Amino acid sequence: MAVEQTFVIIKPEAVERKLIGEILGRFERKGLEVKRLAVTEIQKETAEEHYAHHQDKSFFPQLIEAITSGPVVLVVLEGDNAIEQVRTLIGATDPAAAAPGTIRGDLAIRLPYNMVHAADSPAAAEAEIKRFFGD
Ligand code: CMP
Repeated sequence: MAVEQTFVIIKPEAVERKLIGEILGRFERKGLEVKRLAVTEIQKETAEEHYAHHQDKSFFPQLIEAITSGPVVLVVLEGDNAIEQVRTLIGATDPAAAAPGTIRGDLAIRLPYNMVHAADSPAAAEAEIKRFFGD
């Protein structure tokens, strides 16, 4: 079992609803370690780069508007198989379809407001940590 780092964004809708502690608590209770943490706002250019693979989708403008609409929390988590573990904890992309017990299944109801973003591969985790923390 490999120890990995992964990258998470707690999105503006979660910060607005004061769910930072609830969401970080779920990761910590699972056994993942918070290695880095920052409260910030994502600039439009950075958001467009981060979500560039969605730029042809009809929901792209709405997605950029949502992620830049207020403060976010940037998180680096570390632990065994952290990338897959976090994806399991957050649930399906569409909160309407996400299983109860998952972050999106319990705390969200409609896209694009699914509370968290998480890296989906080791390459994405490395690139996203570099993009948002600068190393
Ligand atoms: P995230 O994991 O941050 O990655 C891309 C984001 O696009 C996703 O979470 C949602 O916030 C958003 N998204 C994905 N599919 C749709 C959709 N069909 N309609 C609106 N937003 C979407």
